[in-house]
Amino acid sequence: MDRLSVDLARCMANGGIARGLTPGMMDEFRPRLDVALAAVHASAGTGMLEWTELPDRGPDDLLRFAAENHGRYDCLVVIGIGGSALGATALATALLPFYWNELSSTRRRHRPRLYVLDNVDPDETAALLERLDIERTLVNVISKSGTTGESMAGYLVVRQRLEAIVGSRAVKEHLVFTTDPSGGTLRQMGEAMGVPMFDLAPGVGGRFSVLSPVGLLPAALTGMDVHGVLAGARDMAAWIKGSAGWENPACAFAGVQYLQDVEFGRRISVMMPYSAHLRDVADWYRQLWAESLGKTVDRQGRTVNVGPTPVKGLGVTDQHSQLQLYAEGPDDKIITFLGVGEFAQTVRIPDPGPEAEALAYLGGHSLAELLWAEQKSTAWALAQKGRPSLTITLPKVDARSVGALIYMLEMATAVAGELYDIDAFDQPGVELSKKATYALMGRAGYEDLAGEIG
Ligand code: PA5
Repeated sequence: MDRLSVDLARCMANGGIARGLTPGMMDEFRPRLDVALAAVHASAGTGMLEWTELPDRGPDDLLRFAAENHGRYDCLVVIGIGGSALGATALATALLPFYWNELSSTRRRHRPRLYVLDNVDPDETAALLERLDIERTLVNVISKSGTTGESMAGYLVVRQRLEAIVGSRAVKEHLVFTTDPSGGTLRQMGEAMGVPMFDLAPGVGGRFSVLSPVGLLPAALTGMDVHGVLAGARDMAAWIKGSAGWENPACAFAGVQYLQDVEFGRRISVMMPYSAHLRDVADWYRQLWAESLGKTVDRQGRTVNVGPTPVKGLGVTDQHSQLQLYAEGPDDKIITFLGVGEFAQTVRIPDPGPEAEALAYLGGHSLAELLWAEQKSTAWALAQKGRPSLTITLPKVDARSVGALIYMLEMATAVAGELYDIDAFDQPGVELSKKATYALMGRAGYEDLAGEIG
């Protein structure tokens, strides 16, 4: 099986990047990578690393639920936010055919259309409710805590619509919850109503949960190759376990990002896929990297205020939007190109004819050739300006390679957490804003905070 590759050549000083990595610097840093990886492996079993066990957990219960409900629903609505939504969206964009929701039921093999409600915008929510055939809709409410205000508000609104149309007794036929196995309001509501539920293990944080039922239940219901995703993640886990230093893909990614930040002040990490299927993997990575690594204190309790800023781009689209800045603006970015070795479709560009001779160079090439050329030329052009990049290439966009990429980026995040010496698995900065919202919405017990906010 072909594996993804990580190419660091355009980060290197000898690859033309004046403020770039040198072999000496990399040799010196190698032991730190190994220590960081060992620390991550050593914390397996302590609870926070439970996400590393997900690739080995069988998806049989999810697949059984999907099989039992096959053909029953025309729409699947996922209600969740942050780590409880971005993974499902990333998998769907990567692995479902484009324009999935516009395909006929036959073309979708009688699998549901997919809508992810991860905001509380009233116009968007109302438009979605308007659009759904409620009697043929299944709603997957995903919340690890089972209390997140935005997701619970979305659920209550959708449940009211369900009750109005199918009646309160039948509502549970249209719901499935993914939540903590023992606590939280969502769990309590599900138990009271007899809603089918899938567990999100306590040691799996939201942004590390895509390979759990959080990402895989919507994947199973829409017919994605769930076994393939897990097999790819397992293969990557074995590769990571069996390699060290810069040969280890997770360490190489984390090490480059860390050194670019700490040694060269390149604090912005752009992820730029050259495959529209991978667009939302970049969005998912944005949360993973930001929420995990942006921290006030290090493990010794010292104020450090660290954290690179992740930015998502899309090749070639953002060449005509962001590239000018990347090439000539502040030299504060490290670009990760996500490339693809093989596309599923071949689309040839026709000969433009004698009246458009200036376009003759395009004729006869495929769109894939154009995309590859643009990716390569962008990396080269950035290097001419001294701007570093690295390239991750997937053999093709399929379940295995996407599962491998996801696991690699998760492990890279854990390794980067060790390098920055911070806790990559908490998010205290988000908690404060959650509490402030409770206060402003009048939740009991938050009166003092409401007064403080004014
Ligand atoms: O990564 C995280 O932990 C967060 O982004 C959560 O996923 C997000 O806040 C939603 O939380 P919950 O799943 O508890 O509703």
